[in-house]
Parts: sequence; structure tokens; C-alpha cells
Amino acid sequence: MSSSHSAPKPPLKHIAFIMDGNGRWAKQRQLARTEGHKEGVKRIFDVAKRAFEHWNIPYITLYAFSTENWSRPKYEIDVIFRLLRGWLKRKKSTLLENKIRFRTIGDLSKLPKTAQEILDETLRETADFNEHTLTVALNYGAREEVLRAIRELSSSEREHLTWEALSKHLYTADIPDPDLIVRTSGEQRLSNFLLLQAAYSEFYFTPTYWPDFGADALDEAVENYLRRTRRFGNIEPCSDNA
Ligand code: IPE
Ligand code: IPE
Ligand code: MG
Repeated sequence: MSSSHSAPKPPLKHIAFIMDGNGRWAKQRQLARTEGHKEGVKRIFDVAKRAFEHWNIPYITLYAFSTENWSRPKYEIDVIFRLLRGWLKRKKSTLLENKIRFRTIGDLSKLPKTAQEILDETLRETADFNEHTLTVALNYGAREEVLRAIRELSSSEREHLTWEALSKHLYTADIPDPDLIVRTSGEQRLSNFLLLQAAYSEFYFTPTYWPDFGADALDEAVENYLRRTRRFGNIEPCSDNA
């Protein structure tokens, strides 16, 4: 690592990924879009493993399906959830062996029942682990999340509403805000991902399509983050606002 010897490294507790570019990865190879999803699913654990084991990052979040993704063709949606189910079936034992807590954010009630079953099972069986948390955003949209939080507020919380009270009703209530948000595929937007939690996040955009994003690409993103200065509104570098 070649960064300056004196600058303190900003801590990295939570890295979130907008896994984009599966369709274009496939198109580049004259394959069906769903082949891109199939290949993309394979990268999830490579990246998570590197982040947990090498960088010791406690929280990883992956944007897998947005509230807007329901507008895609039914066939593609079906394949995505079938791949999710297969991935969980294969990886559940790895999650358990590595003591990784599996979490989701988003409204799971709209997902196919077969996907909900394996999700519930994995959530339940990994619920007591606390060192590493892998969160997958499924049928997640930040606007829906905020509306849901507001609807859940009690009348006393509503009366003197604070950010602290509102954030307790977000899906991410027990997850720290992301320090770094990585989006693959060259797009530079949030697409309704963690809008409020990203208030002070750092962003890293790479043209690499998600199926080509691996451990080396993760190292580059983390090293880039570690060279940055975060001020949180202050005039001096500041390590954290949590
Ligand atoms: C991201 O890849 C995966 C999901 C949104 C489910 P895309 O399917 O959006 O791939 P592109 O952006 O069309 O290349
Ligand atoms: C964002 O990707 C959602 C996920 C990665 C799950 P999209 O491909 O859906 O985003 P847009 O439509 O290009 O903004
Ligand atoms: Mg996309």
C-alpha cells in the first residue's frame, strides 16, 4: 500500500455493492441476460469472503433486486429468484461454517414462496452470529423503506420526531451506515438504494461489469477508499459519525 504514512486510515465497517451490469456482460458475449445473472451470483461469495477475511469488514450489503426491478420481463424475474434460491441452498452451510450472519433488507412478502422459505431458514439459522453480517437487499427501495418507517411510528415518536427514532424503523436499524458504496458497470447513480443511509457515504464507481468484479477489484476499491479523507461537515478529517 503506497498511501501517505501520516494520514489516518478511515475505518471501514460497512461496504455496500450495487451489483450492476449482468445483462451487458452477457450481451457482450452474445448470451442471454440470464447467463449474466448466473455468472454474477458466482461472484458474490468471492467478494464477500475477501471483504470479511482479508479486510475484516464486519458488514457487507448487496443490492440484488430493487422495487423497480419488477418491471422486468417475468422470465428474467423468475430466473433471478431461482438463482437466489439455489445460491442460498448451496451456501447456507458455508455461512454457518464461517459464522456469517445472513440478513435481508426489503419487503420479502412479495417474493416467490419458495425463495421466502429458504430465506427464512437461513435468517433463522444464522441469527446469532455477530462478527460478520452479509445483507442482501431484495425487493428493496429506499422510498418504500421511508414510507414504511413513517407508517410504523408511534404517536409519541411522531410528536417529537428525531432522526434517531425514524432510523430505528428503517430496515437497516441495526446496521451501521455504509462507509463505501461501490457500483459496477459504469452507471453513476443510486437507483433507490439506501438514500438516507448514504448521507455521508463515499462512492466508488467502476466500469467493470459485476460478473467480472472479483477479489482484486475489491482490493482496488478498498485501497481507493483508504486514501480518502472524510470530514462529516467538520474542517478536519474525522473518522466516524456513528
Ligand atoms: C444487475 O444487472 C442485476 C439486477 C438488477 C438484478 P442488470 O440486470 O441490471 O444488468 P444491466 O444493467 O442490464 O447490464
Ligand atoms: C440497480 O440496478 C438495482 C440492482 C443492482 C439490484 P438497475 O440496473 O435496476 O438500475 P437502473 O435501472 O440502471 O438505474
Ligand atoms: Mg442494470
